[in-house]
Amino acid sequence: MMDEQDWTVFKQKLKQRTEIDLDLYKEPQMKRRIGNLVTRAGFDSYTGYFDDAAKDKDAFAAFIEYLTINVSEFFRTPEKFGKLETDVIPDLLKRSQKLNIWSAGCSIGAEPYSLAIILKEMTPNVRHRILATDLDVEIIAKAKRGEYTGNEIKSMSDARKKKYFDVIGDDRFAVKNDIKSCIEFKRHNLLKDPFEKGFDLILCRNVVIYFTEEAKEELYANFFKALKPGGILFVGATEAILNFRKLGYTSFQPFFYQRPLES
Ligand SMILES: C[S@@+](CC[C@H](N)C(=O)[O-])C[C@H]1O[C@@H](n2cnc3c(N)ncnc32)[C@H](O)[C@@H]1O
Repeated sequence: MMDEQDWTVFKQKLKQRTEIDLDLYKEPQMKRRIGNLVTRAGFDSYTGYFDDAAKDKDAFAAFIEYLTINVSEFFRTPEKFGKLETDVIPDLLKRSQKLNIWSAGCSIGAEPYSLAIILKEMTPNVRHRILATDLDVEIIAKAKRGEYTGNEIKSMSDARKKKYFDVIGDDRFAVKNDIKSCIEFKRHNLLKDPFEKGFDLILCRNVVIYFTEEAKEELYANFFKALKPGGILFVGATEAILNFRKLGYTSFQPFFYQRPLES
């Protein structure tokens, strides 16, 4: 039976095995999403589904992938990536020659690799640091491999595809090593693990959709502390932070929030 007790036990099991705490995610959405999966797989309880999936490594990985929603693409919302090139990165470079950047919730790696491409073109001789993290270990492994289908890199210009990817098979493309070596991939849970400090730029895009309001507010407060004064937080195209002033940020541009220099 998919009742409250079943849900509670399911949450406990999930937390024990993966450290994912569903209490920090919006409950109706998570219940609906997981419930659909459970029913489609032919189970009548969350725990029944969990116990079965937990027996098989691949089935469990697919479940976590479904749960964490890894959809991503290179240069997602291209006009915002354009702002990074024309406005945000030039502003940051006025204060630090070498940038310290964090792509938080990086999924398949499209976001940090897109950044590495931009930085390579803007500052060819500088080695910036790009940290890229995600909760899902399988997706981090995929990101590290840096191999994509034509569909996954479709938003990129042909010139960039040619310059930054090797063709490794039929409809298979691999990020070249000079771009790959710019990124440091790591598993990190934004709702649990400690944050590094001293970032010039943090990207956290399309990650918080299912977080509760409280979890989101705490996350944005933690990002504030993790940014250098003058540093910028870049969020997803539907994720404007309404109470950014209360959290201490100023608005650099829509979807870009700055920690004031004098803070
Ligand atoms: C939709 S993808 C976004 C990828 C990329 N930022 C973009 O905008 O295309 C969301 C990612 O957030 C990750 N995620 C969800 N909850 C997380 C958490 N608590 N800590 C770290 N990553 C999380 C998921 O694993 C998933 O890969």
